[in-house]
Amino acid sequence: MPCASLPTDGGSMHDHATDTFDVATLVPGFRPPPQPDPADASLPGAAARLAAADARMRHWRYPADGPLVPGSDRHADASCRMFRETFNPYRPAVLDWPVLAPAIRARIVALPIWDIAVQTEGKARLRMAAYAGTLDEPGMRDALALNAWEEQRHKEVLSRMAAAYGIELAPEPAPPLPRDREWAYLVTGYSECIDSFFAFGLFELARRSGLFPPALVDTFEPVMQEECRHILFFANWAAWHRARLPFRRRVRFEARVAAVWCFLAWERIGLARAVDPRGGAREPDNNFTLHGAQSVADDGIRLRDLVALCLEENDRRFAGYDERLLRPATMPRLARLVLRFVLRFVPRFVPRPSRPFGRRR
Ligand SMILES: [Fe+2]
Ligand SMILES: [Fe+2]
Repeated sequence: MPCASLPTDGGSMHDHATDTFDVATLVPGFRPPPQPDPADASLPGAAARLAAADARMRHWRYPADGPLVPGSDRHADASCRMFRETFNPYRPAVLDWPVLAPAIRARIVALPIWDIAVQTEGKARLRMAAYAGTLDEPGMRDALALNAWEEQRHKEVLSRMAAAYGIELAPEPAPPLPRDREWAYLVTGYSECIDSFFAFGLFELARRSGLFPPALVDTFEPVMQEECRHILFFANWAAWHRARLPFRRRVRFEARVAAVWCFLAWERIGLARAVDPRGGAREPDNNFTLHGAQSVADDGIRLRDLVALCLEENDRRFAGYDERLLRPATMPRLARLVLRFVLRFVPRFVPRPSRPFGRRR
């Protein structure tokens, strides 16, 4: 059934930025975290406060010594405290959207990722809130509800950016409330692990290429780091959850996790096949990696260099968090394997697009 708190008719760019989703409808008692008054931005010391919040978001350590054994109360406490205490209170409504040169603006508008990006955030917030509502452990429930709220904020950031640059978003059907909430959360969580791994590298590639203005890259930097926190929390929730399950339920859970990975692999291979190699107009898809690399590096990039950059950025983004917390491991492991055995002799795999792709109209 559609979630009652979502708009049902898609509608305009304005609707995308201000839709009325409320995490508390699925997680009773959830309160949005306090955010600074927009007027504070003009007060003395505002820049220092922003910098401090940014640093807090990237560095965190559990105050007690000793191991964080997966499944233990300390492990749950550390995972939830990390998530809560690294919260960055930025407000999407006051983010600066720099004025872009016409060619750069056209390039950004033409990227075929905006619809799927906004819709993915919408789906993530719903699935996370839906699963959070089923959890009994208050710390985990609150952390996951906050995660859902942050996905809502990502959606707002993207929608406001679309409005600022004239990106026309497709009408968005209200995603249905998942019937199997654990499955939906697992799909979203592992999906974020895959997408964030590549997004970290692509984001750095965009920064280095200079094709996107530094001010715009800076505006998105907190969003990127938030995804790092999200998958850090997810990896620790999964380890905590599986360690507490009795044997039979544990076996069932592991089978579900394996099925989720198969589903995600199938989904991504299917999407890769759907790519139009001529780069012409097509339906939006979420093959961020291939399209992203083509879009952020004018001269193309060797696939092995891209994978190496993703690994490097993945390590850098996680480096500031307590090393006793678990990190998402599958994508980095796969990437190292691929670098070692598959891509040694592949010269170039992500080519320069033959023409600007993703024409929208
Ligand atoms: Fe997100
Ligand atoms: Fe996320």
